[in-house]
Amino acid sequence: MNPAPTDSRPTPCSIITGASRGLGLGIARHLLQRGHRVLTLQRSPNADLAAQATRLGANLEQWAVDLTQPAEAAARLKTWVLGLPRAQVASLHLINNAALLVEPGPVSGADAASVSAAMRASLEAPMLLTGAFLAASGDLTVPRKVLNISSGLGRFAMAGSAVYCAAKAGLDHFSRALALEEGERPHGAGIVSLAPGVIDTDMQVQLRGADPARFSSQGRFAGLKAQGQLDSADAAAAKVLACLDAADFGQKVIADVRELAQS
Ligand SMILES: NC(=O)c1ccc[n+]([C@@H]2O[C@H](COP(=O)([O-])OP(=O)(O)OC[C@H]3O[C@@H](n4cnc5c(N)ncnc54)[C@H](OP(=O)(O)O)[C@@H]3O)[C@@H](O)[C@H]2O)c1
Repeated sequence: MNPAPTDSRPTPCSIITGASRGLGLGIARHLLQRGHRVLTLQRSPNADLAAQATRLGANLEQWAVDLTQPAEAAARLKTWVLGLPRAQVASLHLINNAALLVEPGPVSGADAASVSAAMRASLEAPMLLTGAFLAASGDLTVPRKVLNISSGLGRFAMAGSAVYCAAKAGLDHFSRALALEEGERPHGAGIVSLAPGVIDTDMQVQLRGADPARFSSQGRFAGLKAQGQLDSADAAAAKVLACLDAADFGQKVIADVRELAQS
């Protein structure tokens, strides 16, 4: 952990899962640049991100946690949020970004342990972390936001991606119900489930590298890359953070960066 900044003015504080690479790393980089206090959760902390924080004098903590075992991570997060010095928090955000794919193909051929791990990291972990976050920050009157990174595949079905589709549809509906709960509270948190577009990350490598005999959409993903239609992680992160920053955050719970860009 970096030493706490000597300046004790309130600063925005953001927690993000899956910041070791891909979209999450892009988001974490932007947040540090903007002066947020940042906590990240993933299996492998990122040395370059730590170096960036050191250069900027930013407050970064990276936890090495496996979100297929989310209860322990959620309990640890609850303690961490309860320990935040209230006077130094300008706003508090949880970005549930981490997700784990099962090898693309029919569920009938999927390894049961992989299906279970994917659902735990991609859906159960966001639910438990969100519960811990909200429970530990309910006394705060500064803006609190939960941004769940969803996918178009939570809204449109695709053969060979049933587990991922189910995890993201679950995340969307969890977000809808949670937004209703928070709407019943004074100073309730804003909730958004956001599809981030298509991004040039390891997840896309996994999709276009799949066996076309088992995954009929493999060619579609190969085409996205070949035709230069993937956003860089940096560009996608900027779009995600434009959603987080929006004055009307939470008014539309189910969102897509491609719609936000047009509005
Ligand atoms: N890429 C796209 O085109 C696309 C499109 C729509 C939606 N999304 C969504 O955007 C988000 C980010 O995707 P991405 O493309 O950046 O994925 P990615 O490149 O595969 O990165 C996934 C991140 O999640 C973390 N993660 C995976 N399993 C974990 C586990 N068991 N415990 C803790 N952390 C774990 C990884 O960290 P470690 O490996 O270090 O644990 C990594 O930082 C995901 O929610 C994804 O569904 C992506």
